[in-house]
Amino acid sequence: MNEKRKIKVGVIFGGRSGEHEVSLMSAQSVMDALNRDKYEVIPIGITRDGRWLTGDVMAALTEGRDTARPAALLPDPKSSALMRVGMQETAPASLTAVTELDVIFPVLHGPYGEDGTVQGLLELAGLPYVGANVVGAAVGMDKAIFKHVMTASGIPVVPWRLALSGKWGRWPSAVLDEIETALSYPVFVKPANLGSSVGISKCKNRAELGAGLDEAAQYDRRIVVEQGIDARELEVSVMGNDDPIASVVGEIRPRREFYDYHAKYLAEPGSEEESELIIPANLPPAVAGKVQALAVQAYRAIDCAGLGRVDLMMDRDTGDLYMNEINTIPGFTRISMYPKLWAASGIPYDELLDRLIGLALERHEVKSGFKSDF
Ligand SMILES: Nc1ncnc2c1ncn2[C@@H]1O[C@H](COP(=O)(O)OP(=O)(O)O)[C@@H](O)[C@H]1O
Ligand SMILES: [Mg+2]
Repeated sequence: MNEKRKIKVGVIFGGRSGEHEVSLMSAQSVMDALNRDKYEVIPIGITRDGRWLTGDVMAALTEGRDTARPAALLPDPKSSALMRVGMQETAPASLTAVTELDVIFPVLHGPYGEDGTVQGLLELAGLPYVGANVVGAAVGMDKAIFKHVMTASGIPVVPWRLALSGKWGRWPSAVLDEIETALSYPVFVKPANLGSSVGISKCKNRAELGAGLDEAAQYDRRIVVEQGIDARELEVSVMGNDDPIASVVGEIRPRREFYDYHAKYLAEPGSEEESELIIPANLPPAVAGKVQALAVQAYRAIDCAGLGRVDLMMDRDTGDLYMNEINTIPGFTRISMYPKLWAASGIPYDELLDRLIGLALERHEVKSGFKSDF
């Protein structure tokens, strides 16, 4: 019997992020779909307070059961083992290898996972991993730097200003004046480094702008204030390393004031508040083609790899397109936009996972070939 060794995939999920729960749902879908004939799946959980766990991690994280033990990956490129950390009170801490890992699939949304931090550890550890590298992940996460990169690449973004929370605390009227001079209401106020619409406000006057800045300042030092536009929200799934491809274009139609946290995660399925996912979006082919081209251009501009869901806005009056953001680890349940757009483009969920793991291994291979001493 010609039995090929299975690829050991470490799936990392949970994490220190407001999107902890979403990550658990995404990771469960990924683990359920990974073909057990090809892959051995090793779950690696991160608690809300940032502790790494191995074992039956899902039960530990979702039901608080005592089914997992402290774990660690070492930043040592000679070791690709998942370690179990012994932390008895009476004995010194010990490390025991649980298993070797061939590739990591980080299914972590938001800060401390989608922002280059975990990617940095995986780089140090010399492990192949799915998705963007450190810089792509970090730029994808940072709404201000992302806009600078877009502008430098000739990709349109809405007019915006950066406000620092420190300055807002000390000279509030100067900050308000500056924003009111540059932009007109409504504006959107966003912490630079969050996701899932957390800390985001739509502000229609000076008082609301002040409240929005207070809110965002609770989450970040840097606050992005954007010109609000009446827009259609378009999303494209992109996949690849050097030759990324784009899916069909999808559209999200929120039924609330905007696509806020409530609309994303709390609206009851089937309720009036539930956002609509339209796949494919109803667009003339030439416009859809332009959206896809912009998505790929933006993906390349931040040096994204593996996967990214690229979100754009289309002004309802003028039809102008604006780049909004790239999510480098987008929602990944079977009903999430990223896999649904691929399914509608002819790539089913399990094949998508195969391709992403292939891309991770390919990128690692290419990187391993470079000189590192000179
Ligand atoms: N400039 C804008 N004009 C109109 N709507 C916006 C604007 N910026 C954000 N929104 C609305 O807010 C939502 C969340 O903003 P987004 O920048 O995508 O943050 P997140 O990273 O949290 O998803 C968008 O999906 C959209 O509904
Ligand atoms: Mg968004």
